[in-house]
Amino acid sequence: AKKAVLGPLVGAVDQGTSSTRFLVFNSKTAELLSHHQVEIKQEFPKEGWVEQDPKEILQSVYECIEKTCEKLGELNIDISNIKAIGVSNQRETTVVWDKLTGEPLYNAVVWLDLRTQSTVETLSKRIPGNNNFVKSKTGLPLSTYFSAVKLRWLLDNVGQVQKAVEEDRALFGTIDAWLIWSLTGGPNGGVHCTDVTNASRTMLFNIHSLEWDNELCKFFEIPMKILPNVRSSSEIYGLMKAGALEGVPISGCLGDQSAALVGQMCFQDGQAKNTYGTGCFLLCNTGRKCVFSEHGLLTTVAYKLGRDKPVYYALEGSVAIAGAVIRWLRDNLGIIKSSEEIEKLAKEVGTSYGCYFVPAFSGLYAPYWEPSARGIICGLTQFTNKCHIAFAALEAVCFQTREILDAMNRDCGIPLSHLQVDGGMTSNKILMQLQADILYIPVVKPSMPETTALGAAMAAGAAEGVGVWSLEPDDLSAVTMERFEPQINAEESGIRYSTWKKAVMKSMGWVT
Ligand code: G3P
Repeated sequence: AKKAVLGPLVGAVDQGTSSTRFLVFNSKTAELLSHHQVEIKQEFPKEGWVEQDPKEILQSVYECIEKTCEKLGELNIDISNIKAIGVSNQRETTVVWDKLTGEPLYNAVVWLDLRTQSTVETLSKRIPGNNNFVKSKTGLPLSTYFSAVKLRWLLDNVGQVQKAVEEDRALFGTIDAWLIWSLTGGPNGGVHCTDVTNASRTMLFNIHSLEWDNELCKFFEIPMKILPNVRSSSEIYGLMKAGALEGVPISGCLGDQSAALVGQMCFQDGQAKNTYGTGCFLLCNTGRKCVFSEHGLLTTVAYKLGRDKPVYYALEGSVAIAGAVIRWLRDNLGIIKSSEEIEKLAKEVGTSYGCYFVPAFSGLYAPYWEPSARGIICGLTQFTNKCHIAFAALEAVCFQTREILDAMNRDCGIPLSHLQVDGGMTSNKILMQLQADILYIPVVKPSMPETTALGAAMAAGAAEGVGVWSLEPDDLSAVTMERFEPQINAEESGIRYSTWKKAVMKSMGWVT
């Protein structure tokens, strides 16, 4: 059959905590043409530990690329139209590998992992000068969440990592760096780089000078020779070395939350988006200013779309557990067989009947930053059944979003008039309606929910030397939106929220 004639296409890898995807967009219309998705295993070797296999992650990327290309073939779309590839990824997750063999020296330590709790406690007693030392340079609180402490743990506890560092064979990277190095050739000329958004989540990166920070590396005792080169989010890093897309440039790289901000076209100061993935992340563009939060939010690099382009910053409210609570109900309790079933269960009852579920599986992130919190389900009676627990789990995602939205409104001064959302969970209509009810503002969802991948594709397509995607607002396709208006009154919404806060207090200080 005759191949369909299209404009230039751009591919995007979306490597999240729960799954990997590869998606191909038409660069002129931003239309999604085809995609493939593979679920990623998570290992919990000890209480609080979360690991993934870096080789499985890499393999899943190759598999998604091959399968998507096959699907495009079935649609008679010529894959030689794919002019660039962007990478977006789960952030902070830490990998150390051997540059001579290309083998990881330990599993990836996932952002949710809590093993570094005592490392964080010890380090916080040693912070030089005032307590602001880490925060003023990185925008981040000293927490188990970020890469520096995970890397410190690997250096202290894994003989193979220590030996490889001594012998000059070790490379460190977040998932983007691991993937780009491997995809561009690995031990045979792979490019060891990361972008400013991912670097800003390591706690080793100075978000003002946009360089690795000497003093921070000294404080965390991290050898700078193992760190990747830091590049902008939109430039050619290298070419695909193998597979169906061999020779195609990788020219976009953004941490997934930054990618979603770009994909939602939040380019103006004050524009914000909330992504419901494994966790839930609300980012508000603060323009070219670094704004420091008074209410438990992070300051982070939003994007820098080109070597000579300015850097933009964001305030971020990070919630560790959102989609992960649904996966937990499926894998650990077995009350649902697939994630989609949660909507059906919740719909059966339409209320939690006084049951509250605080899923503090990895402590609590924003706005509390309380690693000693643990999950609780409370308010149970003999009447409570699995439907109420399912409903409470969905409500928990919405209440946590309300907490970070409240913090954002306080920091920004001007309250958000609506919430732009995206991510896998937004296909759950009950969740979206609950979210509008609990925030008491409209929730607005683009009809094409793959905004993370879209952001990475935009960065890749717009890169110098690729030039198939224009980021000028006029050129962006009109995005259709679905809106959820609040349906309960503000008073009722407020009562539910204050009971949730009581439940949160009970979840804190569980482990000492
Ligand atoms: O900071 C962690 C975040 O990047 C993970 O994103 O999509 O896997 O929830 P996601």
